[in-house]
Amino acid sequence: MKFFVDTADVEELRSLVETGFVDGVTTNPTLIARSGRDFEATIAEICSFVAGPVSAEVTALDLDGMLAEGRHLAKIAPNVTIKVPLTVDGLKACRSLTQEGTSVNVTLCFSAAQALLAAKAGATFISPFIGRLDDVGETGRNLIQEIVEIYRNYPEFETQILAASIRHPLHVVEMARMGADVATIPPKILRQLYDHPLTDKGIEMFLSDWKKTGQKILSK
Ligand code: G3P
Repeated sequence: MKFFVDTADVEELRSLVETGFVDGVTTNPTLIARSGRDFEATIAEICSFVAGPVSAEVTALDLDGMLAEGRHLAKIAPNVTIKVPLTVDGLKACRSLTQEGTSVNVTLCFSAAQALLAAKAGATFISPFIGRLDDVGETGRNLIQEIVEIYRNYPEFETQILAASIRHPLHVVEMARMGADVATIPPKILRQLYDHPLTDKGIEMFLSDWKKTGQKILSK
């Protein structure tokens, strides 16, 4: 399972890359707005130190606009993935950009039928938003299960399931159990994956007992 980081915070990203757990990055207009930085400069900077796919989202809603924006953004770096919304024009843009050799992430997926369309349109990634489904009283993980089942039935589909809108560590575990190809994880949640109170307690106990021995490793 690949871990992408869902952020446009370049400094945060640099420190996460050092952990060795960052396989790619996703951004969206909200994350760019939150960063307060220039969109294209931010994508270029991220691509300079992240080797994996870096998603940059178009904001046009019509086909011609999406294609123009997508082609423009794709020139920033070879690892830019163009993010398009799951609409009629978005999937037309997905098909064209894919045929041109550009990687495409179809975003804002909330149903298995939508994920089926994205795969047929040749998407590189489909992004089901599991947290936002949970927010409205549906069950995000059921959607992932359905998409995994459908895609497995058709080996010709090459679309990777990129679970998005991850809200807590358990979401990551659930996605891994179901076989999602990628989880795009907010920085705070990626850091939480390390945590368990018994790990902290165990370290404390071991160090306290070690102190009693009076020994030091590397002292000889
Ligand atoms: O990047 C898309 C997705 O991960 C957004 O998540 O938390 O805004 O629902 P969220």
